Amino acid sequence: MKRWPEFVQIKEVGPRDGLQNEKKRVATADKIAWINMLSESGVTEVEYSSFVHPKWVPQLSDAHEVGKKIVRNPQVCYSALVPNMKGLDLALEAGIDSASVFMSASETHNQKNINKTIAETYPVLGQVIEEAKSAGKRVTGYVSTVFDCPYEGKIEPEAVIRVCEQLFEFGVDDLSLGDTIGSAVPSQVEELLQAVLKRYPKEKIIMHYHDTRGMAIANIMTSMEYGINRFDSSIGGLGGCPYAPGAAGNVATNDILYLLHGMGIKTGIDEKKIRDASLYIQNKLGKLLPSKSLAVAAAKANG
Ligand code: HMG
Ligand code: MG
Repeated sequence: MKRWPEFVQIKEVGPRDGLQNEKKRVATADKIAWINMLSESGVTEVEYSSFVHPKWVPQLSDAHEVGKKIVRNPQVCYSALVPNMKGLDLALEAGIDSASVFMSASETHNQKNINKTIAETYPVLGQVIEEAKSAGKRVTGYVSTVFDCPYEGKIEPEAVIRVCEQLFEFGVDDLSLGDTIGSAVPSQVEELLQAVLKRYPKEKIIMHYHDTRGMAIANIMTSMEYGINRFDSSIGGLGGCPYAPGAAGNVATNDILYLLHGMGIKTGIDEKKIRDASLYIQNKLGKLLPSKSLAVAAAKANG
């Protein structure tokens, strides 16, 4: 039996998960130019921004303008984060192919992140999912803190399954399971995926690893052993969740591409274009991004 998938689908979340946690605001025109670069890299989905409350995430308060002005590549699915009906209305107006709804498996993180209990969140997301589907949009559901919560500690797989069950019942097309604080190790991934894949087909599950402790690549390898072939990543390793203290960025797109392409697994993404887009945003932010593969590629490019 084959241990690894032949093809892995990557969703680029840098413009959303990446920039939401950067102190420095990137100018709207620069964001648009950068997203246009990403659109030409071969990636098939870009999460371009977030229609949350602008006071909660001021870095992305230009979501509407960005959505209106980016050049749409017909090969790319453009998604954005949507917390409620107000966010969905704005996102539909700005243009999305897919809505990303989100909630947490941990009660405390859910409260801190979206100001509601888990029970209060369900009717809000139920309506958003229904309206997005009737507008003909795909919907992905993010479930955060699927391994550990920064406030509550370990989250049991049963708590994750309860949220997954409800979101699938509401009609999400797929679920992205988030290691929000980047704390999991492969044995935790095995425990969760055994429970999840007993109930849902692997094609409907995306893994979303933050790389706070450098464990993301190990966790991706373990996920692939379970047949998972869809991952979220952030260019250069940008980002984190502003309502999960200490959480670093997602696994870097540059690092996951180095891993996958080195193993002969196809992604359709051009590593050089990702390097160039990483250097572009690194320059705009005025700081080195954490990806090790980017550091090597940048050094090589400089001679
Ligand atoms: P709230 O204050 O409870 O909202 O915030 P509300 O419904 O009570 O409304 C209060 C005011 O906000 C009203 O205005 C609304 O109109 C307005 P007023 O009548 O007072 O003038 N409002 C909005 N304005 C613009 N856009 C909206 C919107 N909604 C309400 N969408 C809310 C609730 C969910 C809005 C808030 O808590 C919020 O924006 N939270 C977002 C936090 C966030 O973005 N966190 C990071 C993303 S999640 C993440 O990173 C994890 C993930 O990557 C996966 C992983 O790593 O695990 C996805
Ligand atoms: Mg995240």
